[in-house]
Amino acid sequence: MKDDQASFTAFMVAYMRAYHSTHETPKIFDDFLAYDLIPEEKRSLIEQYLTPWVKQVNDYEDTELCFNQKMISEFLMQGINNVASRARYAEDNLAKAIQQGVKQYVILGAGMDTFAFRRPEMLEKLEVFEVDHPATQEFKLHRLAELGWKHPAKLHFIPIDFTKESLVTALTSSSFYDPDVKSFFSWLGVINFLSRDEAFATLRSITEIAPTGSMVVFDYLDTDAFIPEKMSPQMREFKDFLLKIDEPIITGFNPATLAEEFACLGFQLNENLSPDDINGCYLQGRTDGYHAQEHGHFACAVVE
Ligand SMILES: C[S@@+](CC[C@H](N)C(=O)[O-])C[C@H]1O[C@@H](n2cnc3c(N)ncnc32)[C@H](O)[C@@H]1O
Repeated sequence: MKDDQASFTAFMVAYMRAYHSTHETPKIFDDFLAYDLIPEEKRSLIEQYLTPWVKQVNDYEDTELCFNQKMISEFLMQGINNVASRARYAEDNLAKAIQQGVKQYVILGAGMDTFAFRRPEMLEKLEVFEVDHPATQEFKLHRLAELGWKHPAKLHFIPIDFTKESLVTALTSSSFYDPDVKSFFSWLGVINFLSRDEAFATLRSITEIAPTGSMVVFDYLDTDAFIPEKMSPQMREFKDFLLKIDEPIITGFNPATLAEEFACLGFQLNENLSPDDINGCYLQGRTDGYHAQEHGHFACAVVE
């Protein structure tokens, strides 16, 4: 992403959660606040990408828009399931973790996450840390002030660039973060944007600043999504689109070797959901034909 610009994909996924919340059934995740965080000009840009789907038009060869709009909009619509399901996956696991004594929730690459405002009752049990790229975080703080939303005392904002800084340094610089308290980390929609080494360095940091039993939930694309002969056509278009908006995705994990790799980092991989598993957990009963995104996986790992 660009150093001086809030992440556009952060607005896109917030839009997806908001869209899901207002238009889709059955409702997997109700992010009734997400629309508010998206400024009007970003909203209309996102809607422009979704237009082909909304209008149900089939032929875009003459469109003046520069991408294969239909495929991108299909991918975005498919992505809505993924984005709503992963948010639900994270917060379901968080609820279980709280019962096991977790007292800190660290949202890595938080973007326009609304947890702290949507679930104020949860802040009675948790300190919440939004850790994000400085440009995205600065935008969000500005937007929150513009909306006049009251800043909860137990919500803390920590800027970091995962490609340049260590999570250990960033988190421990906050006097509110306690490295001895069991913590829950979510890392949604971020890993693919980092190199494998950067992603692993941040994951390793978690084991250094969170005690045994702390957890991380994350989503990832499988390595097939990066192999031209194996990636779906929609994935190919979407990757080109992300490249054009300066947020290229570069890294996938191999689901078959993930448990071993996480063991080397100091985690036990507790769960590793495939697209079929995600369909089974969250997308039963859909009548619109959309299903879990090809190549998309969710996982949960525990610090050993
Ligand atoms: C697709 S958005 C996901 C946002 C949020 N997790 C969600 O699911 O709504 C990607 C997020 O990763 C953050 N991000 C991307 N590259 C980053 C980097 N190098 N350092 C810190 N954050 C980064 C962006 O600022 C953005 O908030």
